[in-house]
Amino acid sequence: MLSTKVEELLNTQVEKEGYSSLLYLSMASWAETKGYPGISQWLYAQADEEKNHMLEFIHYINDRGGKALISGLKKPPETYRGIKQLFNDVMSHEQFISASINDIVGLCVQEKDFTTQNWLQSFVAEQIEEEASVQAILDRLNLIGDNNLYMFDRDIMSMRSSGTESDE
Ligand SMILES: [Fe+2]
Ligand SMILES: [Fe+2]
Repeated sequence: MLSTKVEELLNTQVEKEGYSSLLYLSMASWAETKGYPGISQWLYAQADEEKNHMLEFIHYINDRGGKALISGLKKPPETYRGIKQLFNDVMSHEQFISASINDIVGLCVQEKDFTTQNWLQSFVAEQIEEEASVQAILDRLNLIGDNNLYMFDRDIMSMRSSGTESDE
């Protein structure tokens, strides 16, 4: 059984994972219209992963005797200034999500909810991978500058499958 406080915080995470999915969907659609099929494919795949994270939180809350709530999600930005800025935004968002997962783990310790704390460990690990994978992209973008995005766009999906993601 979940405590009210833990249930509430898990429900805020449902909303955050849902927003992550919409954010990456919006970025994917923008990149698609700007002529970056690879980057857009990467972002669409990321949006799917985030939707799955949201579902995992929903099922966990309901399985533990709580009630998962689906709230109205805020609208993500429609346009982005460029590819580098877009991935900087992805990084900031992932860091925000990592901090948020950390806060839930902290509350679980405080509330002695070691079951949920244990369940959250896959998300703690997931966030390490997410940040590392986006950092690898930012490092690559810094190396090539703004001139060679054609090659970057062609190669980005291979960076994804080279072990920097976990498909959950
Ligand atoms: Fe996520
Ligand atoms: Fe993520």
